[in-house]
Amino acid sequence: MDEFIAGLPKLELHLHIEGTLEPDLMLRLAARNGISLPWADEKSVRTAYEFDGLQSFLELYYLGASVLVTEQDFFDLTRAYLTRCAAEGVVHVEIFFDPQTHTARGIPFATVLGGIERALQTGEKELGISWRLIMSFLRHLSEEEAFATLEQAMPLLDRIHGIGLDSGERGNPPAKFVRVFARCRELGLPVVAHAGEEGPADYIWQAIRELQVRRIDHGVRCAEDPELLCYLADTRLPLTVCPLSNTRLKVFDQMAHHNVLNLLEQGLCVTINSDDPAYFGGYMNANFQALAHELGASMSQLCRLSLNAVEASWLSLADKARLTREIRSHAACHGVVLS
Ligand code: ADE
Ligand code: ZN
Repeated sequence: MDEFIAGLPKLELHLHIEGTLEPDLMLRLAARNGISLPWADEKSVRTAYEFDGLQSFLELYYLGASVLVTEQDFFDLTRAYLTRCAAEGVVHVEIFFDPQTHTARGIPFATVLGGIERALQTGEKELGISWRLIMSFLRHLSEEEAFATLEQAMPLLDRIHGIGLDSGERGNPPAKFVRVFARCRELGLPVVAHAGEEGPADYIWQAIRELQVRRIDHGVRCAEDPELLCYLADTRLPLTVCPLSNTRLKVFDQMAHHNVLNLLEQGLCVTINSDDPAYFGGYMNANFQALAHELGASMSQLCRLSLNAVEASWLSLADKARLTREIRSHAACHGVVLS
């Protein structure tokens, strides 16, 4: 099974680049930039990664991100992630970055974007990984601050492929950002939003009706609303689900209780992603392996999850057709019959 997963062409559609900061790189960048952290070594960093929910994780995640200062830091971070992707059979990535986490510390927007983009371009040439870049607004901040960030991004907007919404969900409903998302859509940018991770199913409806999202990030709490389940199955509006993230942040108490395969069997366009893999104990293959070993996912279901990611991606039709063929051929090589 693990060999089958390793060879399966995979696409990652829900990944925060700041969430790929491994403890060793965090400590190296802290030393390089003269930033003090409360940890002396990798082991004590990892020991701190015990979360009781999204908020306790976000506090460490923003602290970790404080070591990212120069364009080279953002390049090194992104390059390390892409190297992992290449080793794991990930062929396409659509990644989030949080400009406000950095501009609030005085790091120029162009420094952040420049380093990430240079690594993505180099990665595409050297590793063959295609990509899209999604700028996310922090939902614990105000809509005015999101508008100010959009203003800063305006001269660079042709280098950004979409808009997202992340950070603490409870008490920060999608509707809080209805005007800034309308402006982003007017500018021709597709929008997505985290919803239904810790927040209720109603936040998923808000993201759909008020923000007009192209995908929901997480969305697993849709299971609480039968009408929403029907809507998602009928429209195939994708959910980018993150199994290891959900168990580490206690959205589900254990992997055996995760609902992603139920959603798949009800006809929803669910996909598998790693969210913040440096903090949650694994990248794409670890997420697929957890589904296989702890939830009993079959090879056929894993292939369907990967095919869903092709459908949910922002790739061209020609690239989608090529990746569909590659996934189907991997399945056929292993005697897996796909409906
Ligand atoms: N930012 C980084 N990871 C996140 C998550 N899982 N939910 C909300 N905001 C995030
Ligand atoms: Zn996320």
